[in-house]
Amino acid sequence: MKVTIIGTGYVGLVSGTCLAEFGFQVTCVDKIAEKIDKLNNSIMPIFEPGLKDLVVKNVAQGRLYFTKNLAKAVGLSDIILIAVGTPTGYSTGSADLRYVFEAAQEIAPLLQGYTVIVTKSTVPVGTTRQVRDTIRVAAPKADFDVASNPEFLREGAAIADFMNPERVVIGVESDRAKERMHTLYSSLSQREIPLVFTNFETAELSKYASNTFLATKIEFINQIADLAEVCGADVQHIAHIMGLDARIGKAFLQPGPGFGGSCFPKDTRALAAFAHERHVSVPLIDAVDSSNEARKKAMAKKIIAACGGSVRGKKLAILGLTFKANTDDMRESASLIILPILKEAGAVLSAFDPEADITQNIEFAGVERVPDIVTACQGADAIVILTEWDIFKALPFEKLAEVVKERLLIDLRNLYELDNVTKAKFSYVSLGRPTVQPKY
Ligand code: UGA
Repeated sequence: MKVTIIGTGYVGLVSGTCLAEFGFQVTCVDKIAEKIDKLNNSIMPIFEPGLKDLVVKNVAQGRLYFTKNLAKAVGLSDIILIAVGTPTGYSTGSADLRYVFEAAQEIAPLLQGYTVIVTKSTVPVGTTRQVRDTIRVAAPKADFDVASNPEFLREGAAIADFMNPERVVIGVESDRAKERMHTLYSSLSQREIPLVFTNFETAELSKYASNTFLATKIEFINQIADLAEVCGADVQHIAHIMGLDARIGKAFLQPGPGFGGSCFPKDTRALAAFAHERHVSVPLIDAVDSSNEARKKAMAKKIIAACGGSVRGKKLAILGLTFKANTDDMRESASLIILPILKEAGAVLSAFDPEADITQNIEFAGVERVPDIVTACQGADAIVILTEWDIFKALPFEKLAEVVKERLLIDLRNLYELDNVTKAKFSYVSLGRPTVQPKY
């Protein structure tokens, strides 16, 4: 079976590569020539653990191709996945679908033989049906069906998530399309991974519901962390206790500086906008995005308070810039809100992140980017952890004690047991736990 993927962003590139690994002939198409040239030279446009090896292997074995030539790919395809970007539209909060419909328009005249066209990007409810109508109008005689197949990949774990998902959701409305989509995922169904077939709208809404629910869980535990701080409770223990209840589950109960990334903020906003457009009241969903935005600002204030109420002229070592570990992605990262506030308050910022790609971020003007932890901490009045990279989970405290000005660690990811930091003779400010002083 031949598969074409339109768009070589996170979703497209990972899906295409993994489908090639399943044994299909996969062509990944992108309009950005530079991206295709790089991929053809084994240069990955994103940092994703395991991706490069899998791309190189599948290209070498003749199952994975990268091209700008949509016409050549589409005519030969049994299945076409649309995996283009769906950014938040200006002012509305809704997903901007221009690239999805552009792709549908471009595919339509090129179709040959029965083809299933799949919306793989996260798209608002109703989009798959609109894609079908767009193609139908543009190519009335084409033999095709559409399907909705939302992705549930996490950046940093995307390969494992694709190869071993908890479920695959497929919205279809014809038996032919169902059969073809079944074939696409047969290597998963053989391993008894559930393929859930449903209608377009359910598939589309289930993706938004899943992301918004996880975002709600995070914002919930963040608010419990704030409460724990004012009453002497420990949020890590609370998360553990809650997680032992199978009805709650332990995942996504880790407090942090506010969720970011290309998905949760965008999807919670888009779901709220979708509800507002239809005059459905969703106060819970509205609150998730607004309280997350407020949290990022509150975290800057927390850092300033931990530094004695002012950071003017103080040097802060910032450890981590990306929205989470194991990615170079900066989209909606808490650091984009926190660092400008600290700078405005007069702090001198020195930042280390193993992978962050900050070339596009004007928010970091004036922030010194250094190549390692120790350099960042040289002369620092406080060390601030913003991202949970593994390398920050075992800081070289003895060495850092020699180079910092003040032994103060502010950890917005709760990476340490309280005792371990105080034994290392640092004061430790974390989330939802008491502030602790060094043990001598
Ligand atoms: C998320 C979902 O987890 C995927 O299932 C989904 O496919 C993807 O969005 C998408 O729609 O494409 P991702 O954005 O890669 O994946 O990242 P997550 O691991 O979900 O983390 C999102 C944010 O929540 C990060 O800023 C992370 O630090 C934060 N987070 C996560 C917490 O603060 N606490 C937690 O317990 C978990």
